Amino acid sequence: MPILKDIRQLAVCPSEGGQAEIGLIDDAALVWQGGRIVWVGKEEELPAEFASEQVFSAQQGLVIPGLIDCHTHLAFGGWRAAEFEMRILGKPYVEIAAAGGGIASTVRATREASEEELFLRCMQHLENIAELGVTTLECKSGYGLTVADELKLLRVYKRLQNAQPLGIVSTFLGAHTVPREYKDDRERYLELVVKEMIPEVASEGLAIFCDVFVEQGAFSVEEARQVLEAASASGMKAKLHVDQLSSGGGAELAASLGAVSADHLEFVSDNGVEAMKQSGAVAVTLPLASLYTFQKPLDARRFIDAGVPVAVATDFNPGTAPSFHLPMVMMLACTANRMTPAEAVKGATIYAAQAIALAGEIGSLEVGKQADFAILQAESIDQWLYHFTSNACVKTVKAGQVMYERH
Ligand code: NIG
Ligand code: FE
Repeated sequence: MPILKDIRQLAVCPSEGGQAEIGLIDDAALVWQGGRIVWVGKEEELPAEFASEQVFSAQQGLVIPGLIDCHTHLAFGGWRAAEFEMRILGKPYVEIAAAGGGIASTVRATREASEEELFLRCMQHLENIAELGVTTLECKSGYGLTVADELKLLRVYKRLQNAQPLGIVSTFLGAHTVPREYKDDRERYLELVVKEMIPEVASEGLAIFCDVFVEQGAFSVEEARQVLEAASASGMKAKLHVDQLSSGGGAELAASLGAVSADHLEFVSDNGVEAMKQSGAVAVTLPLASLYTFQKPLDARRFIDAGVPVAVATDFNPGTAPSFHLPMVMMLACTANRMTPAEAVKGATIYAAQAIALAGEIGSLEVGKQADFAILQAESIDQWLYHFTSNACVKTVKAGQVMYERH
């Protein structure tokens, strides 16, 4: 039975308590068996029954639950560095999109890429992501926008589940934007999503969640409702991109549909915050996307003060958030969204697990949960996200198996 000792501080990150209550244990030990946690507490209280030869040392590092990136667009073709420059020089994201750039340009590159090419690119990303202490990733389709190309992206995610150790949770985002070929007939595109894509995705069991981008230029609240009701009838749970560039009643929609999360939310209304509080939806903040689009960042305090859990995610995609560096994004959640380091840690662990409906399995270091954790070389959680180093993670463990170790 493996035991990890010599832990300077361990953050349990329980579901209970407020956003800042990460349950710190000084001088801790952690025991697991068959990939599950069987004991956690102060090392001096370790029961004698756990005497074992398999003792590992955390070398006075911090131990946190494996980080969970609960919002990414992992598989895509190409990049969009030229648009980055255009945005810096003052051209708004929506104007670039209207001129055929933005999501549409990634759709072109993604359609051109083979399933194998996309798979190999994702494998490389995941290897780098594991080095940061991340053990689970939510991955969206949404850059294919034909039946075949959406299935191609989701099949890449399915292959990744078996080809490497990170946990992969798939989301169908066929309603990301109306592709150019349906520009004058959005009704028909919606019909394609509802009548062909959703049934195919469901019958192959390719996605747990269905997401819709609710925005002017993407989909309306009513259109999103139609898609998500069809998805729900096919067994997929709802997630939503809402209130990112304008306030459109998206958070209210998420609450009324019982969505597990509403993401972005920079322009959320007070009613939207209240509705999410009532429904229990998680608010997912994506500070990198606000920064790269020169938007005002979300004020996370509005949610935290109202008692809505806030998860933190990268939104990794080639347009608005071209980095998969979750610890950096947690630092940005502190500096741009006004979350404390402890709040950001709960946001990228247990609340992120809640945002992908996996809080019973992962996201905290409690008995019965999967033994997913990261060892960080830092003096404290505050110091980790304050004095931001190139990579504080020295070891990443998934279900008791080492997936990365710094040598
Ligand atoms: O989450 N908001 C919509 N979708 C992505 C951006 C997509 C893109 O620009 O390629 C996002 O920010
Ligand atoms: Fe996104």
